[in-house]
Amino acid sequence: MNGNQDGNAHARAGRRGPVGFAVVGAGLVGPRHAEFATKVEGAALRAVCDLREDRGRALADKLGAEWAPDYREVVKREDVQVVNVCLPTALHLEVATAAAEAGKHVMVEKPLDLNVARARQLIDVCRRNGVKLGTIFNRRFVYGTRRTREVVQNGELGKLLVADMRFKAWRPQSYYTESGWRGTWSKEGGAALINQGIHGVDLITWIAGPIKSVAGHARHLRHDIEADDTTMAVAEFENGALGVIECTTSVTPRQGDWLEFHGANGSVLLENYKISSWQLEGVEQGEPHPEESLLPGADKGVDVGHFLQVQDMADAVAEGRDPVVTGEDALHSLAVVQAIYESERRGGNQVEIAEIMATAGMSA
Ligand SMILES: NC(=O)c1ccc[n+]([C@@H]2O[C@H](COP(=O)([O-])OP(=O)(O)OC[C@H]3O[C@@H](n4cnc5c(N)ncnc54)[C@H](O)[C@@H]3O)[C@@H](O)[C@H]2O)c1
Repeated sequence: MNGNQDGNAHARAGRRGPVGFAVVGAGLVGPRHAEFATKVEGAALRAVCDLREDRGRALADKLGAEWAPDYREVVKREDVQVVNVCLPTALHLEVATAAAEAGKHVMVEKPLDLNVARARQLIDVCRRNGVKLGTIFNRRFVYGTRRTREVVQNGELGKLLVADMRFKAWRPQSYYTESGWRGTWSKEGGAALINQGIHGVDLITWIAGPIKSVAGHARHLRHDIEADDTTMAVAEFENGALGVIECTTSVTPRQGDWLEFHGANGSVLLENYKISSWQLEGVEQGEPHPEESLLPGADKGVDVGHFLQVQDMADAVAEGRDPVVTGEDALHSLAVVQAIYESERRGGNQVEIAEIMATAGMSA
């Protein structure tokens, strides 16, 4: 289990009442947030907001909550303490701002927004209003990625040489066209890399440390979209390691997600976030606590991360602390994604992460 989830039963037992959640956006991912808000200890789902009545009302009715089409009403509800933003990416800042200004804590789906400048604004508005901000990076909560991070960070893997990510999947043209926002620069800030690939970028940098520069290509080879469906980039980490970032929604059939780490003492490979090869003499791979396989979402692999993040936000509110994954934690992977897009614009030339951060007035 994640360190912050340990021993929380005691704290939950002492609460006055459940933390009220409202989920804004009932498309692909919102229903996961809503369902888990009904299941985590010390939380209650109060409202589901979606412009589309067929989605929003159906989900609210199923889970015993109220539906509203206008997020401005939802963020004002007195029985709501946390607003989960599960909307097209370009709307994250607007809705998080309304929630924060109404004094609500905010959980925002990845990516925080279209780029680091807007993500910074989102973080700042939450700070100014004294509310908590959590970002969903659900794959950090799976045993394989957590255990790999431990052996990289505690030095057992030895001097890190290579950290790679490959995401090779298929999305039909309808996935882009019917959404009205995916695959566009103005509403998504990119396509495959900023939507799917950012999970892997987050993981290799969470595990191996920050990236210093990237060089690569981000193109659309198969879909009729503005942004990328196929990206290949080389990354140079601040600690000197090198890595390859591959992300595509163009290949059939789906090939899966890989993460690979090679250090001076051995190698750890993960397939679909599970350790598939542990070549590290003298260090036990270990295994997840048996209770983890019983958690909601565990049967669907990484969905358990959504459950644990909703639980963590309820605990964070009750305990007056930050959530495990904050808004700041989401900036680096977004900067790497932006740098790869910038590299494509510059014909594949190297782009420093520090340059991208500077566009938002930040250092790397
Ligand atoms: N962590 C993950 O595994 C994961 C998975 C999928 C999506 N996401 C992220 O979640 C976000 C949403 O993605 P999705 O695939 O669920 O999108 P989606 O298009 O399937 O759903 C978005 C929903 O928002 C509704 N909506 C749009 N504008 C609205 C408004 N102004 N007010 C109320 N409702 C509105 C739409 O009707 C739609 O139902 C994106 O940022 C995406 O990157 C994360």
